Amino acid sequence: MSRLVVVSNRVADPRKAAAGGLAVALGDALNTAGGLWFGWSGTVIEGGAPGEGELHQQKAGTVTLATVDLCAEDHADYYLGYSNSVLWPVFHYRLDLARFDAGYFGAYRRVNRLFARQLLTLLRPDDIIWVHDYHLIPLADELRALGATQRIGFFLHVPLPPQQLLAAIPQHEWLMHALFAYDLVGFQSEADLENFSRYVRAEAGAEDLGDNYYKAFGRTVQAGAFPIGIDVDEFAALTHGKDAREMYERMKDEYSRRQLLLGVERLDYSKGLPQRLRAFKALLKKYPENLRSATLIQIASPSREAMDTYTDLLQELESLCGAINGDFGELDWMPVRYMHRNVARKRLPGLYRVARVALVTPLRDGMNLVAKEFIAAQDPADPGVLILSRFAGAAEQLKDALLVNPYDTDGMADTIQRALQMPLQERQARHQTLLKNIREQDVHWWRMTFLKALGAAARG
Ligand code: G6P
Repeated sequence: MSRLVVVSNRVADPRKAAAGGLAVALGDALNTAGGLWFGWSGTVIEGGAPGEGELHQQKAGTVTLATVDLCAEDHADYYLGYSNSVLWPVFHYRLDLARFDAGYFGAYRRVNRLFARQLLTLLRPDDIIWVHDYHLIPLADELRALGATQRIGFFLHVPLPPQQLLAAIPQHEWLMHALFAYDLVGFQSEADLENFSRYVRAEAGAEDLGDNYYKAFGRTVQAGAFPIGIDVDEFAALTHGKDAREMYERMKDEYSRRQLLLGVERLDYSKGLPQRLRAFKALLKKYPENLRSATLIQIASPSREAMDTYTDLLQELESLCGAINGDFGELDWMPVRYMHRNVARKRLPGLYRVARVALVTPLRDGMNLVAKEFIAAQDPADPGVLILSRFAGAAEQLKDALLVNPYDTDGMADTIQRALQMPLQERQARHQTLLKNIREQDVHWWRMTFLKALGAAARG
């Protein structure tokens, strides 16, 4: 059996309960198959040489973690720069927040080249290589230039925007050309796949060979939609663990006479946090029966704090929360409880289970695994309601959630009211279907479907 080699910018010890998202999904994949996980060590070397970085290796159970340090300049221009100031905003449809600084692109190429060089020394001829996310789009191209002939697949965890937006990136053609060095390119949703197909046909004159094979730049690549899932049983088990139960009991006690609404995410402008707070405020105004009752717990974990776009958002949120609490709060009730902190993953399911409503309302999201974890944590006899943005990849699968447009403040307030009023029977019926959805396409299904397609992809 071939060894699995996973490559992503962030590498986490799969044995430790990570913060969620990509790290959890990949840890699952590697724990099952055994293999190598390669990426950035998380260490920044002050004064190091650009394009250079020491390789570290460490065993984590059945998995080998191989990581490379970055010098301060590469961290600034490849990670904060091209990855998070160009690709992240544009891929999330936020051209207004993109900064196309001169040095960013060179650093992006340099670090991908460095990763390719270091990874090559660890590869075996029959490895299957699975590269993840927007930081590493050109990695296969760099590996191929060094002579790698292994099968290489790519999975984009974030959305792929429409051609017109993508074309705003000065190097858009180069980026899309680089995707053709892979044997399989996977997206989260049918909408992303459609954007890819439109782009390559319109901008690169790609020939559609059928079966999602595209021929352009003298190469053929297969593309597909592989919506990422969670390990439903693992998360349900976490829900019954000691930490989650303690959290559940404590919160249930405290909120027994109130209706709890919950939002959990990284503090990121793609998540629609100000829009959500404005909708919550509109709810309190329009439906005053919720005063002294509806309480929004908003957990926003710190993220990319070296960037202005993130610190600006932090300030905006603090002022919005302060204003809502100032306007509506009572001595014995505060409408918003806002935390700019991480909550341990093993305690989260307790919080999910006690919430009457989850607000997962990003302006744009590749998939959104919080939505799926919320479903997995519910008590089927008395489940909470999921309010989900139509702009999250998850909305393609989770049609029984209450889908909202996060830009529509009033509409979102009405939907929250509907969720708070929803009769038990309807909540149970919706939850049953949602649970079925996340079970059918869980993280194991995602991994196996992608790897099977990668193994079967015609090469050329
Ligand atoms: C998103 C991206 C991941 C990234 C994560 C955390 O989920 O798709 O690639 O690792 O955010 O962001 P960070 O910049 O801290 O790695």
